[in-house]
Amino acid sequence: MLTPSSVRSDTMPGVREDTGGFDLLAPDGTTYRVDLVDDVLAPENTLLAERLEGRRTVAFVSPNVERLYGHRLRTYLGTHMGTSDWSLTVLPTGERNKTLASAERVCEVARRSGLDRNGVMLAVGGGVLADVVGFAASVYARGVRHARVNTTLVGQVDVGVGVKTGVNALGAKNMLGTYHPPHASLCDQGLLASLPEREIRCGLAEIAKLAMVLDPELLTALERCPDVFLRGDAAGQTETRVMRASMRLMMEQLCPNLREHDLARLVDFGHTFSPVIETAGGHRLRHGEAVAVDMALSCLIARHLGLLRADECERALDLIRRLGLPLYDRSTCTPELMADAVRTAWQRRGGRLNLVVPSALGSGAFLENREDVPERLLTAALAELEERGTAEAANGARELAR
Ligand SMILES: NC(=O)c1ccc[n+]([C@@H]2O[C@H](COP(=O)([O-])OP(=O)(O)OC[C@H]3O[C@@H](n4cnc5c(N)ncnc54)[C@H](O)[C@@H]3O)[C@@H](O)[C@H]2O)c1
Ligand SMILES: [Zn+2]
Repeated sequence: MLTPSSVRSDTMPGVREDTGGFDLLAPDGTTYRVDLVDDVLAPENTLLAERLEGRRTVAFVSPNVERLYGHRLRTYLGTHMGTSDWSLTVLPTGERNKTLASAERVCEVARRSGLDRNGVMLAVGGGVLADVVGFAASVYARGVRHARVNTTLVGQVDVGVGVKTGVNALGAKNMLGTYHPPHASLCDQGLLASLPEREIRCGLAEIAKLAMVLDPELLTALERCPDVFLRGDAAGQTETRVMRASMRLMMEQLCPNLREHDLARLVDFGHTFSPVIETAGGHRLRHGEAVAVDMALSCLIARHLGLLRADECERALDLIRRLGLPLYDRSTCTPELMADAVRTAWQRRGGRLNLVVPSALGSGAFLENREDVPERLLTAALAELEERGTAEAANGARELAR
């Protein structure tokens, strides 16, 4: 099996897949590995210990992960490391705790345990924990190693394969953050068994995002099996195929543009309106749900502009619905807030909008300029979304009443 150090700088940049995971080598020489592993916390499985390389480790978990896996993680670290070489701390998570104060708390724990530049900060959890701990690792003592065991579907197909860290600040999602490649990133599909259905659906939103603008085959797989990751063993093989395809796609997209020098990124499909849907909605919607609403709105905009055929637009909306994700959010899908989202994205993307829309299902295009989405178009698309969202809610209520 390849290890990060065995990816030599004289090999070609790109993403290489093997039975145990993926190696990425970016054109700037940055390299890291994402491992696919079974039973990562079984004491006899040495992979995580190997990745930690005997370095002093300060580990962090969310309260849910503590409840479900805290005991196994302690046993694991206790088996493979000396008592004084590791600690485990529970951090409150959730979007509201994805703050600079939480990152400072991580640094405080590290400082108290005497973590030096050779140490590792380990996050065992979902995207929120990984983002906060990764951010802390990138600034603590000007940067220490960051390892993660990704325990959510979003974590495995999205956060865990990239290099971004961040906290919410100044009233905006991920306003402060860094690019800090992981020292190790491990994904164990078995951990998803305890994940609530709502969280699985959020992961499916990120997978659908990739499928709709990048991969017609993945799209068909999702259409055939919209309850993948929700059916347990019955979907085992499909799960692994979908997981690998998503991780590969995401890493291939990130690789040439790891630090986002190019701000036109197809993987930002669903991520233009969603930050405002999340923040202005007081985080009532989960990240993946806001992404779903954003994708639905972006598809309607594309159809109104004649970029996406009506039948393809229906197919996209139908998939979002069948994945059990929302199409609409009444309190935030207003012309004012969505125009605000356009303005904010335009600003953050250096004076370009770069709104990603499917041009046909399985391929994407960019609406580069703010003028490409005039207010009357946005208002018309939102009115249509409301109509569909309301019909959807009524159908849902009828289902429940049955
Ligand atoms: N850095 C990036 O590139 C990147 C990419 C995508 C998303 N994100 C960020 O990730 C965050 C979303 O991450 P998320 O969807 O993983 O949510 P999350 O981190 O909030 O985790 C969801 C919930 O599931 C619990 N949980 C975690 N693992 C579990 C398990 N195996 N079983 C049961 N419960 C478990 C957590 O404690 C939490 O309550 C957002 O803040 C988003 O901005 C970052
Ligand atoms: Zn996302």
